[in-house]
Amino acid sequence: MMNDTFLKACRGEKTDYTPIWMMRQAGRYLPEYQAVRKNVTFLEMCKKPELCVEVTLQPIDLLNMDAAILFSDILIPLEAMGAKLEFHEGRGPVFPSPIKNRADIDRLVIPDADESTGFVMETIRLLRKELKVPLIGFAGAPFTCATYLIEGGSSKVFWETKKMMFTAPEMFHSLMEKITQTTSRYLLAQAAAGAQTLQIFDSWAGVLAPCDFEEFALPYVKKIIADLKETGLPIIYFANNGATLLELSASSGADVLGLDWRINIGEAVKRVGNMAVQGNIDPFSLLLPEDKLKKRIGGLLEGAKGAHGHIFNLGHGIHQFTPPEQAKLCVDLVHDLSRR
Ligand code: CP3
Repeated sequence: MMNDTFLKACRGEKTDYTPIWMMRQAGRYLPEYQAVRKNVTFLEMCKKPELCVEVTLQPIDLLNMDAAILFSDILIPLEAMGAKLEFHEGRGPVFPSPIKNRADIDRLVIPDADESTGFVMETIRLLRKELKVPLIGFAGAPFTCATYLIEGGSSKVFWETKKMMFTAPEMFHSLMEKITQTTSRYLLAQAAAGAQTLQIFDSWAGVLAPCDFEEFALPYVKKIIADLKETGLPIIYFANNGATLLELSASSGADVLGLDWRINIGEAVKRVGNMAVQGNIDPFSLLLPEDKLKKRIGGLLEGAKGAHGHIFNLGHGIHQFTPPEQAKLCVDLVHDLSRR
C-alpha cells in the first residue's frame, strides 16, 4: 500500500491527517546514519547509491515520516559543472577555487545530468523500488548555489557575492544562467528517474533585499519551475528567512511554499493565498518537553487550517544534536493531533 498523503497535501487535496517530513531527516542526529557514515567521507557517500538508499530509508523506517527525501547535497551538480568541491570535517563545504572572473565562469560546463550525476539518478531508481511513501528530489536554487561558488564555501556576510552582483551584474547574471540551465536539466533527470516531488532550496535568499531578490534571484527560480512544468510534479520552493519575500516567492510558480520558523503560519497562509504551505516549527523546539511541544504543534496545525494544503515540517534542517526520540515524538504528535 502506497501512502500518498504527502502528494495529496502538495496538491491541496483533502487528507486524513497532516503529513510530515523533516528537512535533513537523513543525517547526523541518527546513530544509524553515523554508523554508515563512519566508514566513508560525505562526498564518497553521496556517490554510492546503495549507501544513499540506506540512509534515505532510515527516517522512514525509524520515525514514520510521510515522505522520503533523496540523500544527496545541493552542491553535487556544481561539482559536475567542473567546480572542485571538498567537504572539510567540522567546517562544511569548500570550493578551493572560487569563481572570481569571466574566465572562471566560461570554464564551467552545463553537464548532462545522467552522465555526470548518474549516481543520483540510480539512487532514485533504487529508492522507488523500496519506498511506500513518496520520494522528494531536490536541488539548490541558483542564488544559493552561486553564493557557494563565489564565496568558496559557507558565508555570513556574502561580501564577494554582493560585490559581483553590484559591481559586475552582467557577470553575475551569466553565472546564474549557467547554474539555472544545469539545475533544470538536473531536476528533469530526477523526475525521469522517478522523483515524485521536487524541492528547490534557497537557503540564503533571506540575505537579499526584496528588490534584489526580484532582480537577481527570483527570475531564475521562475525559469526552472517553468522548465519543470512538463513533468506535472508538485514543486516546493523554500526560501529560508523569507518572510519579507513571501509574496514574491508565491509568484515563483511553485505549488508549495516552504516556510521557515520566523513567520507565523496563519499569517503566511493569508499572504500566499491559494497555495499549499510546508513548515514551520523552529527545529530547536524539538527540545521542548512533551506537553509544550504538543501545544506548539497543536497551535501550528490550527494556524494552518485555512491553507490550501499543509505539510508539516521544521522551519529548517533538523539539528545534528537533536535526540531522535524527540523527532519521533513530533511525528506521532502531528499524526495524532491532525487526524480528521
Ligand atoms: O534533507 C535530507 O535529509 C536530504 C539530504 C540533504 C543534505 N543536504 C545532506 C547533508 C539535503 C536536502 C541537503 C541540502 C543542502 N546542502 C542545503 C540546503 C538546505 C539547507 O540546509 O539550507 C545546503 C545549504 C547544503 C550545503 C551543505 N551540505 C552544507 C552547508 C553542509 C555542512 C552542514 C553541516 O551541518 O555540517 C553540508 C553537508 C551535509 N549535507 C550533511 C548532510 C547529512 C552533513 C554531512 C556529514 O558530515 O555527514
